[in-house]
Amino acid sequence: MSSRTFFVGGNWKMNGDRKSLGDLITTLNTASLNDETEVVCGAPTVYLDFARSNLDARIGVAAQNCYKVAKGAFTGEISPVMIKDCGVEWVILGHSERRHVFGENDELIGQKVAHALESGLGVIACIGEKLEEREAGTTEEVVYAQTQAIADNVKDWSKVVLAYEPVWAIGTGKTASPEQAQEVHEKLREWMRANVSEAVADSVRIIYGGSVTGANCKELGSQNDVDGFLVGGASLKPEFVDIINARA
Ligand code: PGA
Repeated sequence: MSSRTFFVGGNWKMNGDRKSLGDLITTLNTASLNDETEVVCGAPTVYLDFARSNLDARIGVAAQNCYKVAKGAFTGEISPVMIKDCGVEWVILGHSERRHVFGENDELIGQKVAHALESGLGVIACIGEKLEEREAGTTEEVVYAQTQAIADNVKDWSKVVLAYEPVWAIGTGKTASPEQAQEVHEKLREWMRANVSEAVADSVRIIYGGSVTGANCKELGSQNDVDGFLVGGASLKPEFVDIINARA
């Protein structure tokens, strides 16, 4: 097993309210969590302050998106300085729903990554192929191109977690098999070795997302190059505790 700190992110997406998120926060605050795992919860923008004020300090908070500049006439957007002003340390960028529902492209995601890092946020940067791309045998090509667009904008990799989330596995109940996840993670690490550096390839956390559950997390998390998870649906349930403790 590697020396990389296991990282489990929850992505609440556009779900919850003060009552249900408050209950979830109480569950997390009172649970016994593996203290060797780094945990971060991605809250909806309007609940960032609420999540940060109520979650235990040992649990990080992430925004689910941000814009590429600090301020200005960008109705509806939020900036990294605002996120930091709420005491929040992380942002999720390039999520497949941002890419495929809201039409964000590699260029914009790269600009957002650069600005978020310059502003001092940690970035959970998401990549992943669609079903038709996997079936056409272009998974590697797709994820390498997405990773390149991110890597071009990263100076300090210690603040970046790369999330491999095959689009066909997100919210579908069709989890990648441990072998499928390991295969892509290993290739991504080799890509890092060839295109970034040996040191970054060895240290960067590559986490898996796509229908991770309490039932499948242990096997997925035991793969050599799977350094944690980004969890959607199951992060809203008490089962998230089991996922945090996958390696316990
Ligand atoms: P899911 O979502 O766990 O509900 O598949 C994962 C994600 O979108 O990060």
